[in-house]
Amino acid sequence: MVPNPSHFFLSFTLLLFLLSTKSSSAQSTTDLDPNQLKALRSLGVPTGKDPCSPSHKSTICDSSTPFHNLISLKLINCSNGVTLTQTALKTLSTLQDLQFINCPVSPIHFPSEFSSNLNSFTCINSLKKLTSVWLIRMRNIVNLTVSNVPVSASGPSIILNSIKTLHTVTISHAKLKGVLPTRWHMNLTYVDLSGNELEGKLPTSLTELENLVHLNLSSNSLNGTLPNSFGNLLSLKNMSLASNSLSGSIPKTLAAIAGLVHLDLGSNQLNGTVPKFISDMKGLKYLNLERNNFKGVLPFNASFIKKLVVFKVGENSNLCYNHSTLSSKLKLGIAQCDKHGLPLSPPPPKEDLSDDTEEDDDNSPPPKHEHGPSRVVFGVAIGLSSIVFLIIFLVLLAKCCK
Ligand SMILES: *[C@@H]1O[C@H](CO)[C@@H](O)[C@H](O)[C@H]1NC(C)=O
Ligand SMILES: *[C@@H]1O[C@H](CO)[C@@H](O)[C@H](O)[C@H]1NC(C)=O
Ligand SMILES: *[C@@H]1O[C@H](CO)[C@@H](O)[C@H](O)[C@H]1NC(C)=O
Ligand SMILES: *[C@@H]1O[C@H](CO)[C@@H](O)[C@H](O)[C@H]1NC(C)=O
Ligand SMILES: *[C@@H]1O[C@H](CO)[C@@H](O)[C@H](O)[C@H]1NC(C)=O
Ligand SMILES: *[C@@H]1O[C@H](CO)[C@@H](O)[C@H](O)[C@H]1NC(C)=O
Ligand SMILES: *[C@@H]1O[C@H](CO)[C@@H](O)[C@H](O)[C@H]1NC(C)=O
Repeated sequence: MVPNPSHFFLSFTLLLFLLSTKSSSAQSTTDLDPNQLKALRSLGVPTGKDPCSPSHKSTICDSSTPFHNLISLKLINCSNGVTLTQTALKTLSTLQDLQFINCPVSPIHFPSEFSSNLNSFTCINSLKKLTSVWLIRMRNIVNLTVSNVPVSASGPSIILNSIKTLHTVTISHAKLKGVLPTRWHMNLTYVDLSGNELEGKLPTSLTELENLVHLNLSSNSLNGTLPNSFGNLLSLKNMSLASNSLSGSIPKTLAAIAGLVHLDLGSNQLNGTVPKFISDMKGLKYLNLERNNFKGVLPFNASFIKKLVVFKVGENSNLCYNHSTLSSKLKLGIAQCDKHGLPLSPPPPKEDLSDDTEEDDDNSPPPKHEHGPSRVVFGVAIGLSSIVFLIIFLVLLAKCCK
């Protein structure tokens, strides 16, 4: 029998194919502990590429010998088949950093050694739901991020007070109920409890956190006033208390926080005058005071307002701007003041206010939250097309009636 060359070619290709799949699944190249490799596979982490190679995006290994150990693991976009098991987690007790991102697996009780070795834990839109009891087993954690996951707890205190090592904590959009803690660890630098169901007042003890750089308590149901001691938060750079029910005025002590970059007090019931010292904060880039009950003359000049990346002050019905120092071109969303410093009615001038007598003639670009230009373009487009249409019509008319 004569061998058919095409059969021969086919078998050869098949052989090559088998060899290549074999070598890619053989993992002859990784120095990762073989048990950890097995655990990774059981968690659906692709191991076709060496998990210890620096280009592997979801894992980081240490340099121990003869086998490396995993120190960081990110589980992103898990498939539905993935389950966590005690065996896999016990094997992975060398992990210091564990992240779940869009990974809707069921949470299990972490083995004790596994929990206590963790330094950093992130859970974003993952693990279905969590409890405070579950979270505080990670008793040596420094960075905790939980977002878009319901957390059941009697309040944030149990979590923040039980984990004494925390430096940064985010528990946001977690349906967290209760009141803010009255005791805090001095090492906290970052606190984000935004988008929850927290109630009650801002405790004075919060203002003792002199290392706090970032505070976000926005979108809760907090009430009461800003404590006078707020100015003790000397390290603050970003602060948002927006969308709560806070009342009273902005404390004078806030002037001491010279390094503020982002100040968001929007959508509350704050009253009193807007303090001028805000414009002396040299690093300020974002200022939101909109939707409050501030009154009187806005004490800022145009050069300060133009320096800001975002400035919102609209919907404060008793607040007004001085027409001889600020141009209505700034579109602040508040009324002009009369000579007594009261808002001139009718309120907020919009596009229609004619403004040719303005002495303040900087033609810098108007603030970003403005839709004027697109309307103008639209208008011009309609105008042009009508003209073209009219010409065609006239030409046709002239032709047919000749
Ligand atoms: C996860 O899924 C999201 C949305 O489906 C996608 O944008 C993202 O790139 C995915 N990330 C990874 C690491 O696969
Ligand atoms: C604060 O952190 C330092 C080092 O980061 C640590 O030595 C100290 O014990 C911590 N203090 C508290 C109260 O946890
Ligand atoms: C505060 O949290 C809200 C909601 O989570 C977010 O939209 C906002 O950007 C945060 N503000 C700062 C200053 O980080
Ligand atoms: C702090 O605020 C600035 C200015 O708005 C912003 O660019 C930056 O991302 C914020 N930082 C954090 C950690 O939210
Ligand atoms: C601000 O509101 C509080 C009550 O919320 C009121 O007691 C206080 O008099 C008001 N202050 C000013 C300056 O309007
Ligand atoms: C505008 O206000 C800032 C801050 O109060 C001040 O430093 C600056 O000199 C003022 N500029 C003008 C042109 O008045
Ligand atoms: C507006 O500014 C001018 C010039 O600085 C000043 O004379 C006037 O008193 C101010 N008006 C009000 C209502 O503050």
